[in-house]
Amino acid sequence: MSDIMERVVALTKRRGFIYPGSEIYGGLQATYDYGPMGVELKRLIKDDWWRDMVRDRENVVGLDASILMAAKVWEVSGHVGGFNDPMIDCKTCQGRFRADKLEQSKCLKKKKLSPLECGGDFTEPRQFNLMFSTKAGPVDDDAATVYLRPETAQGIFVNFKNVMDTARVKIPFGIAQVGKAFRNEIVTGGQIFRMREFEQMEMEFFCAPGSDEEWHEYWKAERLRWWRDLGVRAENIRMREHTPDELAHYARGCGDIEYKYPWGWDEVEGVANRTDYDLGKHQEGSGKGLAYRDDEKKEWVVPYVIEPSAGVDRCFLTILCDAYEEHEKPNGETRTVLHLHPRLAPVQVGVFPLVKKDGMPEKAEALYAELKKRFRCLYDKAGSIGKRYARLDEIGTPYCCTIDGDTATDGAVTVRHRDSLDQERVALDQVANYIADKMATWTR
Ligand code: GAP
Repeated sequence: MSDIMERVVALTKRRGFIYPGSEIYGGLQATYDYGPMGVELKRLIKDDWWRDMVRDRENVVGLDASILMAAKVWEVSGHVGGFNDPMIDCKTCQGRFRADKLEQSKCLKKKKLSPLECGGDFTEPRQFNLMFSTKAGPVDDDAATVYLRPETAQGIFVNFKNVMDTARVKIPFGIAQVGKAFRNEIVTGGQIFRMREFEQMEMEFFCAPGSDEEWHEYWKAERLRWWRDLGVRAENIRMREHTPDELAHYARGCGDIEYKYPWGWDEVEGVANRTDYDLGKHQEGSGKGLAYRDDEKKEWVVPYVIEPSAGVDRCFLTILCDAYEEHEKPNGETRTVLHLHPRLAPVQVGVFPLVKKDGMPEKAEALYAELKKRFRCLYDKAGSIGKRYARLDEIGTPYCCTIDGDTATDGAVTVRHRDSLDQERVALDQVANYIADKMATWTR
């Protein structure tokens, strides 16, 4: 892990964003738990995606399908037979590595070297399936095998007809879903970058064959716009088209949205043209009609699908990495700041009395009660003012209001800006509007 990534990970633990899973029992590899700050940020990311993809659009509706799905779904979709990673075993160190990710792996004996450098004795690659299966019901036989979904998308495909029949939607339209997915990943890493249990935000957009390439371009542009709207810096995010040999078995084209993580460019979201592959397969497999009536052509047509698919956790890590900055203070110490977009900050406003006397706490509590009606706020009266600012800098709070000795006479507070470190005096009855204006015009 790079130095900067180690420091980002340390901050996530120190400030209650992310904890290693099952930590008091020594941890469970590739699982992580979200703490009080993390759960807020994660929820805000999902809500923002939902607003942008569902609520703000007339032609996208939502869905929440089951995690456990019938084995048949995954046999038909091609996951049981084909959702594999090629693995090689090392006879020298007994390690097992993903054959296509050797440069990211480490030899179990020569821990600083990758399997490409350690000179180990390797087997030929073999295929390992990534699906988690379990048994539903008390009868322990094959008929009861169910799979934990490795993508949320199939829950959407198997409900296509239900939504068509009940939601008064017409092609072109989308169905969006946010939820957990599970993959028995062989190589994990980058903290929450690649885990075995994670969350996805996916939308399947159903359109007429022939209009698919135009919609694909539209959704690629829309998704990149969303990333930029969240404050992610343009130089750190890009669209990369898949080469033909990279394409998944179901895709005709795919653009990956990549972020420049501390270890280099890597995928955070895929926008794929899945053609009529999935609905076609499920129509065959289930015997149920999954076509729509094209009134102009006067025929039944299986729609094409454009799929923007982002990982919630990877999005979380992207936002943290992009927001993370270290500044050297005049005294040589390091100031760590998360420059989060104010709409994603778990705490948007900190309210402090400078000291715990002279009526300051009472005034600060009254301001806190007022501001809480409009913003996510935190009241803190303990410790030095510098420590209180430092703590809120590290959780990405964009504005802090301090009640001091002058408040009693001038009826104003000091508003301190996280990004510029500017401090301004603002009248108590103007603070809420002042902060709302600053948030509305915030740029990175
Ligand atoms: N339905 C299409 C699909 O699942 P994918 O590229 O395999 O496509 C989509 O996954 C997104 O889900 C990825 O871009 C990534 O953000 C996230 N993702 C995939 N595997 C993940 C894992 N093991 N841990 C965390 N996020 C993951």
